[in-house]
Amino acid sequence: MDQLILRPSGPLSGEVPISGAKNSVLKLLAATALADGTYAIHNVPRIADVEWMSELLISMGADVAWSGEQSLTVTWDRDCIPEAPYEVVERMRASIVVLGPLLTRFGRAKVALPGGDDFGPRPIDMHLRALEKMGASFETVHGYVEARCERLRGSRITLEFPSVGATENVLMAAVLAEGTTVIENAAREPEIADLASFLNRMGAKVLGAGSPTIEIQGVDALSPVDHRVIPDRIEAATYLAAVGAAGGEVVLVGARADHMEMLIHKLGQMGMRISPDSAGLWAMASGRLKAVDVATLPYPGLATDYKPFLVTLLALGEGTGIVTENLFTGRFRYIDELIRMGADIRIEGHHAVVRGKEMLSGAPVKAHDIRAGAALAVAALRAEGETVISDSSHIDRGYERFFEKMRGIGVKVDRK
Ligand code: EPU
Repeated sequence: MDQLILRPSGPLSGEVPISGAKNSVLKLLAATALADGTYAIHNVPRIADVEWMSELLISMGADVAWSGEQSLTVTWDRDCIPEAPYEVVERMRASIVVLGPLLTRFGRAKVALPGGDDFGPRPIDMHLRALEKMGASFETVHGYVEARCERLRGSRITLEFPSVGATENVLMAAVLAEGTTVIENAAREPEIADLASFLNRMGAKVLGAGSPTIEIQGVDALSPVDHRVIPDRIEAATYLAAVGAAGGEVVLVGARADHMEMLIHKLGQMGMRISPDSAGLWAMASGRLKAVDVATLPYPGLATDYKPFLVTLLALGEGTGIVTENLFTGRFRYIDELIRMGADIRIEGHHAVVRGKEMLSGAPVKAHDIRAGAALAVAALRAEGETVISDSSHIDRGYERFFEKMRGIGVKVDRK
């Protein structure tokens, strides 16, 4: 089944449960390599990326199994093979975050170099420079980075850009390093704070995660823990966008407003009403939303991952909005698909000028990545006729039960 077929829907209503954050759980799974024993990770989404990360851990020597609907048990009790093969890294670039934990724990790691993807090159120079400063040496052979070190040394690391992956790799490396590491210009995403709280419960000494300066005092050993993953703010944003496009009133059960302040503010400017309630987040929209300008920035700015949804809402809004992408220069490809659905969007460098229309027009389109695919599904809610999204398996990489959840709030969707 690799096609979603959608028809105009709305107003939407009901409740949609928000799953655990993909971009948190993938890093927590990598962090389990830091100590032997058994971990229980709860609120884990059943998505392809989690299966792939589990496969990677298994190939390195761990036992990984589902225990109950949303919990994963990870056990390390055999020798670890500190290697991430190309087949895995190529499918899922997030696997590069095993580098830090493997290197600091075992003194060596071999990780395939990630290639580019649909939204541009994905270099890891900042990860490598920081780990080098901590005492690691790297060699690139046959498409692999081979890393070695004696015990890593705590250092002062200033990141050129608050990269999520580089912050996570350095953080995980620093927890077992000798002495104190300070990461300046660290990424501040809620997923980083979640990783730090996981590490602290394992016995690490991390201060300041969630702020631009993180201080890590290295310890000699860590031990496994139980942990509940934070809710997925990007998944929540997707359902907010569905309400924004189709209208209606929906409760996002488990979503956290404090992780999504800038987005909630923007959607409020556009005319949506969103507020925290006891179950999570309540959202309401009626009529066309108003155009605003949008620029993506590292957290707490507007996430680049929200952009496909904001572009879609602007394509259906009243007026013209300018969208500026500051993180991934190539992350505009889905716009060609929106244009095929009748959207009026012009791309100028890393800006998109979006002129809103009352309705789009259903068309066959293709999901190029997780968020692009989900955004096309949102666009289809206000597109006359039928929209057929092919390669919809991209959506399943990052969304748990997307089809069922969309149906649950009244979206007319089938799959083939
Ligand atoms: N960059 C470098 N050198 C580096 C590292 C990053 O030049 O060594 C550049 C990147 O090319 C990019 C920018 O810095 O232009 C930001 O990259 P970052 O390292 O922050 O992103 P990431 O860790 O690769 C994570 C998420 C992405 C999300 C970005 C930005 C995961 C698994 N992925 O990627 O999420 O878009 O942060 O917030 O956490 C998704 O969920 O679909 C997704 C792509």
